[in-house]
Amino acid sequence: MSHDLFEAAKTAMAKSHSPYSHFPVGAAIRTTDGRIFAGANMEVASFPEGWCAETTALGHYVMAGGGEIAEIAVIASRMDKVTPCGGCRQRLAEFAGPATLVHLCDANGVAETVTLGALLPLGFGGEVLR
Ligand code: THU
Repeated sequence: MSHDLFEAAKTAMAKSHSPYSHFPVGAAIRTTDGRIFAGANMEVASFPEGWCAETTALGHYVMAGGGEIAEIAVIASRMDKVTPCGGCRQRLAEFAGPATLVHLCDANGVAETVTLGALLPLGFGGEVLR
């Protein structure tokens, strides 16, 4: 992964609205044609109404027209190698494939790279709904 996806996730993390958990998270998605979509977690006083960084990034990605996802980076200031939560694994799998790379970051850059398939084995897919 080139360093710019990490930088995009880190820059997005700086915009986190997390006054309740004080756990800022940033995520960035790169499509195979090189576009980058980033987002941060947004918390709400009514706690269940908040959402994750990956979800914000996915919203930007979808609204820009989507496309094939090549790689995803996630960073949290208070935790090295933060992994997407269960719900976000499912959301990412809606638009990315099991071979999509997910870069788990620390303060310096990518610390470990896994696949979305490794993060969401035996995941539920929408095929049966068609
Ligand atoms: N969070 C994310 O943004 N992404 C994850 O994958 C893990 C958790 C956020 C949600 C909440 O705002 C804060 O981290 C603490 O759970």
